[in-house]
Amino acid sequence: MEQQTLITDIAADTLKGLSSNPKYLLSKYFYDDAGSAIFQDIMNMPEYYLTDCEHEIFLSQKEEITLAICPGNKLFNLVELGSGDGLKTKILLKHMVEKGVNFQYTPVDISAKANNELVESLKTELPALLVEAKTGDYFRKLKNLNGHASIPKIILFLGSNIGNFSDKETDAFLNQLSAYTNSGDKVLIGFDLKKSPKIIMDAYNDPHGHTRRFNLNHLVRLNRELDSDFDITQFEQHTIYDPKTGDVKSYLVSKTEQKVHVGAIEQDFYFRQWETIFMERSRKFDLSAIEKLAEESGFKVVQNFTDKRNYFVDSLWIKD
Ligand code: AVJ
Repeated sequence: MEQQTLITDIAADTLKGLSSNPKYLLSKYFYDDAGSAIFQDIMNMPEYYLTDCEHEIFLSQKEEITLAICPGNKLFNLVELGSGDGLKTKILLKHMVEKGVNFQYTPVDISAKANNELVESLKTELPALLVEAKTGDYFRKLKNLNGHASIPKIILFLGSNIGNFSDKETDAFLNQLSAYTNSGDKVLIGFDLKKSPKIIMDAYNDPHGHTRRFNLNHLVRLNRELDSDFDITQFEQHTIYDPKTGDVKSYLVSKTEQKVHVGAIEQDFYFRQWETIFMERSRKFDLSAIEKLAEESGFKVVQNFTDKRNYFVDSLWIKD
């Protein structure tokens, strides 16, 4: 059922994106099983500092984070949106289990495979932990969380996933978070910070070609799931960073004039030579922008956890 909804969504979203001018595709569809595996490769490369920074924050400040997020001794639900392999979260989970913190863990991810692997690994690594994983689009899954309204919620949204959103989506997402939390509930959101443009470009324009494969895999997915005939050798990946706005933007550029047929929706799409498909935004923030986002959506910044180099922040907010 869930899978069915997802496929219908991808067809409708792809139709909309490729019919637009300029063309775009939605970054949430990067993460099929192959895309999730390529993203692991991205996270493992030395140039992709984001994961290392957040790892450092969790490792060096797990006590402080635990103290700051726990609402006393009451049972609470630790919800993670976009949990992936849960590698960073496990540091916190392990610490909290050892300290006897009274909580349950609800990882929510769009990849069923990633979810299953996370649940399996937690069974052996942290058998005492109460886990209830949910697979699906977290925009949608957030709605179901209201069922647990009586239990305080701490919502994790790590890895600068929020950087993927447009300004409109950021507002919509934070307003949704606000609507599904109660006064005193907290959210811990990972934001990548503005820094030397060179460091940022190295992370998104990597010499290993993982970012390129990641983008092209989106087309491979469409070929498989929507019966399209993208020739991936005819698209070039290109990334830019604007230090003024903090936007990293990733594109696929059509090397030739070409026609692509998408069987599932019986549509042809035409590409001019050097026409772009906008693939992804990876926004970089500063602390004042973060504070503004919190306040505009009914939260207050409680504490900012940063790494030694000040590249990344996990910002803890409380609902008014
Ligand atoms: C998973 C959204 C945080 O934007 O840095 C990495 C995805 N794209 N390299 C990011 C990504 C290209 C990543 N996020």
